[in-house]
Parts: sequence; C-alpha cells; structure tokens
Amino acid sequence: MSANRPALVRANDSDPTLADDADEILRGLSAPQKRLSPKYFYDETGSRLFDEICTLPEYYPTRTERAIMDAYLGEMAALTGPRAAVIEFGSGSSQKIRQLLEGLDDPVAYIPVDISEDYLSSMANAVARDYPQLQVLPVFADFTRPFELPTYTQAPARNLVFFPGSTIGNFERADAASLLDVMRIEAGLGGALLIGVDRKKDPAILHAAYNDASGVTAAFNLNVLRRLNNELGARFDLTTFRHEAIYDEAQGRIEMRLVSCIAQRVAIAGHRLEFRAGEHIVTEYSHKYADDEFAALATSAGWQPERVWHDDAGLFGVHFLTVAD
Ligand code: AVI
Repeated sequence: MSANRPALVRANDSDPTLADDADEILRGLSAPQKRLSPKYFYDETGSRLFDEICTLPEYYPTRTERAIMDAYLGEMAALTGPRAAVIEFGSGSSQKIRQLLEGLDDPVAYIPVDISEDYLSSMANAVARDYPQLQVLPVFADFTRPFELPTYTQAPARNLVFFPGSTIGNFERADAASLLDVMRIEAGLGGALLIGVDRKKDPAILHAAYNDASGVTAAFNLNVLRRLNNELGARFDLTTFRHEAIYDEAQGRIEMRLVSCIAQRVAIAGHRLEFRAGEHIVTEYSHKYADDEFAALATSAGWQPERVWHDDAGLFGVHFLTVAD
C-alpha cells in the first residue's frame, strides 16, 4: 500500500444489492400506492445515465450549483476558516470536491462517506494521489444513520459537512430532517454544513428538467425495472411502462413515476404484482425549497443558518450553516 493510499473504514453494515433489500422492495411494490426508493436507481447504468442527465440543457441544477460555487468559493472559504476536515455525504462527483478543496484554506482531511465500496475506494485513491498533503479517510457506510468518524492524524479546526447536488430534496421532509440531524452529529461542536438545495420556481422549468427532450431521464427511471429483472428475477416488460414526472405544487416536489400502459400482472421474487392500466409506481420525490423553508427545516435539526448564495436567475441555493450552541 502506498503512503497516501487511503484505508477504507467500515462504519456500519451497509449493502447496496437489490437481493438483500428484497423484502423492502416487495413491501413498497405491494402497498396501495406502489413505491420504490430512489436509492435503487444507481447501479452502473443508472449512475452513467445520471451523469448524462447532469449535462442536459434542461437540467439546470448541476451547472447552476457549480457556477454558484465558482462565484462564491472565496466567501465560503472565509466562513469555513482554515484547517477544516471535509466530510462529504454521498461523495458523488470528485469534480465538486476538488473545486471545494482547492478553494478552502489549508484543509487537513477529506472523509468521503458512501455506500458503494468500489466507487468510494477509487475516488478516494484519486483524491489522495492528487492532494498528497490531505488525509483522505473514506468511510463505507449508509450515511442516513450515524456512523463513526475515523481518527484524524492531524486535528482539524472544525468539521465541514459537504452535501452538494440537492440530493437532500430526494428525502421526504421528515427523513430530510433526520438526515440533517445525522449531519449535525457528525459535524460535532463547532461544525458547519455546506449544502446545495434546489429552489421553488416556475413549474415549466421543473417540468422540462425532469422530462428532457432526449429521453435520458426516462431511461434513468426505467432502468430501475431492468435492475429488478436482472437482480431479483422480476419479469417487467419495459415496453409496457412509461416515464412520467409531475410537479406537485401543494407538496413542492417533483414526483417521478413509472406508469403501466396496460393492465398486467408482473412476477417478482415468487410474488405477483397487479397493475391497472394507468397505475403507477412512485420512484422518486425531488423536493424544492424556498430559502426560509429550508432554513426552518435545518433549524429544527439543530443547525443555525448563516448564509445562502444563489445564481442570478435564483434557480438554486447553496446554504452555509453552523451547529447551533
Ligand atoms: C440526485 N438528485 C438530486 C436528482 C434530482 O434532481 O432530484 C435525481 C434526478 N432525478 C431525475 N433527474 C435527476
């Protein structure tokens, strides 16, 4: 093992395969309103399709968040202060973390936390190679539950939790509050949070972002049925389901669905699922927050809102919060 090759810490027992989640999946698909968790989108194909979504002209969040980070990184670094340890929940794109690490004042450690072990070690190795001064301490864990942080060899001045991409929007409000709570626990006393949050806006913009003209979001959504076929031996005929994404104004969220075009029965893991023509499975929520709405949610989880930056069109927000005394 090379000097700066990070060792992986297993903080709790997490496993991303569908077969292990068969009971949870069957429960969701057997409920009166059929449901599948969005966490099942991200196998290799789903992750590739999501990367493609991020480059689509209609999908503004990724490029808008990047532009906000570019424009205000100096202010973010000043608020964070020197010698922070950055704990990234989900450790999605190494591009975003590089942008942050390069903008911060002398960060001492980077702790990517992810459920996908292969992905986690390869991205941690790449970051460790490119930033030899940094302690890179990957943690293999389901970050929705508290996990143990690794021991730092150099003590940081504070922990900064980083959760970009507006993934917080994919959690229902109560779950988002409990995730914010886990983040506060991991940040600890004196800790801070930098988090990307998608804002409420003209529903036409949202509709276009989740129903792109080239059909990548549709392929991303339908891929979860392919996964059920491959990993759980289900018999979904993908040609009989279609993608739909609607904006529910009352709930302030996009709802992604897979709609059965016909009445049918589908075999899955020794069970049969009945679908009426037009019946749908809810596959994802993507909540949109006004700034004060998000601030209230975070406050309820023990965070003190400090600052929020926007793009000129006001599409997206990056919030900086500190652990309340
Ligand atoms: C990962 N997450 C923030 C995306 C979103 O916008 O809610 C997932 C996504 N679903 C469809 N397009 C993108």
